[in-house]
Amino acid sequence: MEIRVVSRPVLKSAREGLVVFHFEGSKKPEGEAVGMDKALGGTIAQMLKQGDLKGKLKEISLIYSMGKLAAPKVVVAGLGKKEELSPDKIRVIAAGLARFLRTNNIKSAVVAPFWQMVPGLKIADIGRALAEGALLGSYTFTSHKSKAPEEKPVRRLEIICEEKDSSELKSGVERGQILANSANLARDLVNEPSNVMTPTRLAQAALDVGQRRKLDVSVIEKSEMERLGMGGLLSVAQGSQQPPKFIVMKYKGRDSDKFELALVGKGITFDSGGISIKPSEGMGDMKGDMAGGASVIAVFDALSQLKPRTNVVGLIPATENLPSGTAYKPGDIIKIMNGKTVEIITTDAEGRLILADAISYGVKMGVKRIVDIATLTGACHIALGDVCTGVFGNNQEFTDRLVEAGKASGECMWPMPMNEEYREQNKSDIADIKNSGGRFGGASSAAWFLGEFVEKVPWIHLDIAGTSDISKERGYLVKGATGVPVRTLAMLATSLAEE
Ligand code: BES
Ligand code: MN
Ligand code: ZN
Repeated sequence: MEIRVVSRPVLKSAREGLVVFHFEGSKKPEGEAVGMDKALGGTIAQMLKQGDLKGKLKEISLIYSMGKLAAPKVVVAGLGKKEELSPDKIRVIAAGLARFLRTNNIKSAVVAPFWQMVPGLKIADIGRALAEGALLGSYTFTSHKSKAPEEKPVRRLEIICEEKDSSELKSGVERGQILANSANLARDLVNEPSNVMTPTRLAQAALDVGQRRKLDVSVIEKSEMERLGMGGLLSVAQGSQQPPKFIVMKYKGRDSDKFELALVGKGITFDSGGISIKPSEGMGDMKGDMAGGASVIAVFDALSQLKPRTNVVGLIPATENLPSGTAYKPGDIIKIMNGKTVEIITTDAEGRLILADAISYGVKMGVKRIVDIATLTGACHIALGDVCTGVFGNNQEFTDRLVEAGKASGECMWPMPMNEEYREQNKSDIADIKNSGGRFGGASSAAWFLGEFVEKVPWIHLDIAGTSDISKERGYLVKGATGVPVRTLAMLATSLAEE
């Protein structure tokens, strides 16, 4: 879908559809809907009077213009209560609108401005939200369907705007397009089944982004992992026939060898649990256990277009976690790249092992900050559902910043506790640390496990076990992979450049 900002009169637009808006509670058409109503001979006012149009959030009505306008169809979209309109509500509205246009076979539409009625909101934020909502909400994953879907995608949206607002709106729309398309790239990677999305294929996806966006991307192979002593990644990979990959992506927005930020993403392309095998029900969902890694790849796609003046490195350890005669086992003791030893309590707590190597690698590089992103614990899924991502960390200022970036993106980032008592749960009798602190407080003890490898570096751990995919459509999140937290991370990295 192409989204453009244009300055011309709404009524003269000869597209297939014309979109105007209505606030809940208004008795009469407002803004651009006034002229539209007049041209239609009072249809909108009549619908209001009859109570068929209420302007509730997500409400959408279709009117045939019967030759009274250049466009054959008029769409009236509800904005909800005026005092409650926010960028995130605009995303939800745009998502519903984009799907409505697709269902009603309107392939190109003109969207009338409504922001003159809500002076509190920034025009750039409105543009960003409209573009994000439309692109995220109309996402589909159809590459494995042998027949093309019946509903054809919307080709073009033109957002109409007065000349004086146009540059602000344009920059917002552009930013929104970049962020949403990157989030959709993450969704594509996560939605792929594990027989397609192997560690090798995930590495290829990163290399492809590197080539398309002119980024430095490299892949560390098994022999090099051995030389580096990546015992976490190598142990987990032991049970699989697929070779493990350690992906390194670099975005350089300024001339320096220092990296302001490392993004570390869990890249388990399938998590069976290994020898500590999971129950078979729902195991297929574990194809998405590389969602953290996918989000890192997608953030680099966004950064290369947003071009913030900062340097970011992405680190993605990738492997399958499978049982076999060569698999690592409960009771094993392994050594992470930084020299710390780990007693394996369960082979299903594999994510923290591969992340420990990747975090150690980042620390050794001398990065200034670390954010890791992982579908790490069922406990976090239980605690926060599929609504909020769990946020853990060692630096309040950095965490506050991330939470703010989340708010601006409509991705809820919820701070979780890191009391020392959770750390104690990981104590081992025979190694430096063990890989499971038990069921209770499992999200916090898992975070502490990672915390053992960050040294003094300001660090945030995002547990996306609940938020990386959803089982039912919700607003601009469609069923399946959500692309969380790509937009938040891209905003966070951008904010580091503004210092
Ligand atoms: N990938 C899972 C966590 C997960 C669960 C992600 C549900 C998405 C949805 C992780 O590797 C795992 O198996 N964690 C275990 C840890 C436990 C054995 C200490 C868990 O949460 O049960
Ligand atoms: Mn697991
Ligand atoms: Zn896992």
